[in-house]
Amino acid sequence: MKKIYLAAFVAFAFVLGAHAAQRPGHAAIASAHKLATQAGFEVLAEGGNAFDAAIAVASTLSVVEPQSSGIGGGGFFLLHRASDGRDVMLDARETAPAAVKESQYLKSDGTPNRDTALYGPLAAGIPGEPAALAWLAAHYGKLPLAKSLAPAIRIAREGFQPGKTFLEAISSHREQIVRYPGTKALLLPGGEVPKAGWTFRNPDQAATLERIAAHGNDGFYKGKTAQLLLKAVKETGGDWTAADLANYKVVEREPLDFDYRGFKIVTASPPSSGGVALEEMFNVLSGYDLDKLDRPHQLHYIIEAMRRAFRDHNEYLGDPDFVKMPLDTLLSPQYAAGLRASILPDKATPSSMLPSAVAHDPGMHTTHFSIIDADGNMVATTQTVNTHFGSCLVPPGTGVFLNNEMDDFALVPGAPNAYGLLGNKANAPAPGKRMLSSMTPTFVFSPDRVGVIGSPGGSTIITQVFEGIMAFMHGASAAQIAATPRYHHQYLPDVVWAEPDAFDADTTKALQAMGYDIKPRGHWGFMNVATWNLKTNTLDAASDPRHASGLGEVK
Ligand code: GLY
Repeated sequence: MKKIYLAAFVAFAFVLGAHAAQRPGHAAIASAHKLATQAGFEVLAEGGNAFDAAIAVASTLSVVEPQSSGIGGGGFFLLHRASDGRDVMLDARETAPAAVKESQYLKSDGTPNRDTALYGPLAAGIPGEPAALAWLAAHYGKLPLAKSLAPAIRIAREGFQPGKTFLEAISSHREQIVRYPGTKALLLPGGEVPKAGWTFRNPDQAATLERIAAHGNDGFYKGKTAQLLLKAVKETGGDWTAADLANYKVVEREPLDFDYRGFKIVTASPPSSGGVALEEMFNVLSGYDLDKLDRPHQLHYIIEAMRRAFRDHNEYLGDPDFVKMPLDTLLSPQYAAGLRASILPDKATPSSMLPSAVAHDPGMHTTHFSIIDADGNMVATTQTVNTHFGSCLVPPGTGVFLNNEMDDFALVPGAPNAYGLLGNKANAPAPGKRMLSSMTPTFVFSPDRVGVIGSPGGSTIITQVFEGIMAFMHGASAAQIAATPRYHHQYLPDVVWAEPDAFDADTTKALQAMGYDIKPRGHWGFMNVATWNLKTNTLDAASDPRHASGLGEVK
């Protein structure tokens, strides 16, 4: 047995070496909006690489999908540089302002104030996205920032016709949008929710992007943009300082990197909880020969691995610059063996037998895009303003939708956030601290293929990416990976959420007999996948078939 693993490892190391010298000669981009995918290709055609294309895609999504992500938010950019094989995670997560206080998120009777946690200036962290765009151009791209931002600036000025999701997000947030004149002027023309066929223009965001193009970080975190942000935050009852903005910095972090049955997985490290949860799940599953089991038993062990990974998720994780996390223990084979020992072969473990608590509502917020360029550089980015349109505060004159990422902190101990996730001290807010995230941009390497995978979906991001990786490992195409039926367990509530077509009737019955409470739950996720077949040297890209706006393309 050991010999087989050694032979697989040697073959794998050889192919990874070969991959470093190989170039696909074409590029693949998959994103949640066709204009963003096209913007990426436009910049590649100008001589840019995957990192320049990532700037173009990210900034265009800020304009065309502002309900999900943008320069008023943050994200994680997982990068693979072909020239030296380096993988790095650019952490552009928002930070808490210096004035953050728990009392800001409590009502006068001491109960949690969900309104200040989700809407208006107190909900917003200091944005990280603009710093990421400037950093990518300065350290990884080939083009000046102005060239890579040009498509977004053009579309923001000329406008485009938003689709159903954008219009529905306006309708469902009308009550919060009308509170803020800058937001109302942008999203409620004539005071009404716009109808299909409306052209959305955001010339103020075009001007903000131009200041970033001209001055890099200083175009956002200092000067005119900073003044406009500080003024609006102050006037609406928030408390940001010039130093909060000027001190914002992206951080280059080592991604998590682990092997599972001959596949190498490179994924988001803290302050994302996603990679830790993924590694914990795969560590548990490495002790079972899933291919030899029937479907109900495969799912049984997978769901039990999810349950245990989510239990640990909220207990221990936070910003690595502020908290010491027991990652060596959580990610050790001994810990995984201990978790396996607690799983019965034919019976669900009631979550009530394990400590801590979670409840949740998977949302469609956030966005993910995947890029492979002609040289084999790769980018997996998941970026967000948190829930739709973030805090719903657009500081007048900026066109910037400020995030509501502060809700991803454990703002009030014991009170769940928008995804029902609870946290403890590790994720308590503090000045300058980054809030825990579920965003899980991921690369998967095998001797034959490489995959770039990710999705939005709050806490379901982690299980969706897990299911995407499993599909990749079984040889699925980019389109099949994006279409993979979804199921999710996150410890509490003790329920398996499943898309209607996730399990057949016999499998559902067998799982129910083991004690699982299966609740069907619409369709969710918006996975965008790029793959590279190293044997045929071909690329593949696909956007989730659940949504019409996305585009995966190879050119
Ligand atoms: N705001 C969602 C996340 O970062 O997981």
